[in-house]
Amino acid sequence: MGTNKPARVLSCIQPTGEMHIGNYFGAVANWIALQNEYRCVYGVVDLHAMTTSYAPLDLQKNTWQMVADLLACGIDPEKSILFVQSLVPEHAELCWILSCICSSGELTRMTQFKEKSQQQSEFVSAGLLFYPILQAADILAYRPQYVPVGKDQEQHLELCRNIAKRFNHRFGRDFFSEPNPLFTETPKIMSTVDPNKKMSKSLGAKHYIGIFEEEETIRYKIKTAVTDSGSLAPSEMSPGTQNLFEILEVCGKKDQSESLMDDYKAKKLKYAHLKQIVADALVELTSQLINNRKEFLTKPAKVKRIAYESSEKARIIAGETLCGVRSLVGLPKTSLPKRVIAGKSK
Ligand code: AMP
Ligand code: TRP
Repeated sequence: MGTNKPARVLSCIQPTGEMHIGNYFGAVANWIALQNEYRCVYGVVDLHAMTTSYAPLDLQKNTWQMVADLLACGIDPEKSILFVQSLVPEHAELCWILSCICSSGELTRMTQFKEKSQQQSEFVSAGLLFYPILQAADILAYRPQYVPVGKDQEQHLELCRNIAKRFNHRFGRDFFSEPNPLFTETPKIMSTVDPNKKMSKSLGAKHYIGIFEEEETIRYKIKTAVTDSGSLAPSEMSPGTQNLFEILEVCGKKDQSESLMDDYKAKKLKYAHLKQIVADALVELTSQLINNRKEFLTKPAKVKRIAYESSEKARIIAGETLCGVRSLVGLPKTSLPKRVIAGKSK
């Protein structure tokens, strides 16, 4: 303690298939920006992806895919740690220890548990109930100051902060500091087909725009985006139009957005023109990302090597935390892994 090291940032994403522009602007773009100022630790949380029904081969494929995609987006393994959760077994161990200071009632009351357990028709796993504790373990293992997440993660962060407080209270030391959420400023990106719903993979492919999607389908999806105001008063901007302006802004085209907004206010906006500009902005972004991804697609071994090496670095930090935790909660010392003795946490 008492060093001048930059603050630590921790965040994770589930490997649930293709990344879309909602994930990118709502989470990943922020991760990339933070790398220059903080000591960042990012994770692909494969254990979380096992909490609802899944196919083992897909999980494996999607995990490496997500690592490659994050690298292509600009997560730099020279600057940040990019681990795969199951390669850092300390997470599962800490999850168990923390579960013993959580009540089952506070887990069954979590909104996500209530929603997802209703969506599961036959089988609700105990893993789904434990999901927020594993997330708290992901976070507390690195004792970060900041956790950049979307607003939808607020309740999970609150539980994590409560667990940290309870641990300190129960075991008599200020071991964990309470991590602060860093909510992204980007508002939700909505589906272009149904702009009243959040863009999400679970709605189906026509509802989201992948960040590595081909130009042709991006242009088609934007061209056919719903801008109709439906039953709104003529003076109100429709959610679909708002969403297109939003996308333009997050693509960094503020000037164009302002000038088109002037047209809108003067009732001179041509929707086809707005759509053309939005599609151009997206294609500019995605073609750059597609290019970056080529390098990683052709080198799957490199992607795995980066993930394994990074996960080893993560284990040094998480291993130190676990040593302290085990001793505080009354578990015997494990023989210290060599890497914990030799390694210095980043
Ligand atoms: P998910 O794929 O839903 O697990 O989300 C991964 C991350 O992307 C989380 O931090 C979400 O808050 C963020 N995210 C997902 N969908 C959107 C969206 N439509 N707009 C903005 N952020 C999103
Ligand atoms: N629950 C998060 C999501 O769905 C993913 C996640 C798991 C996470 N562990 C985390 C996010 C730790 C931040 C920190 O997006």
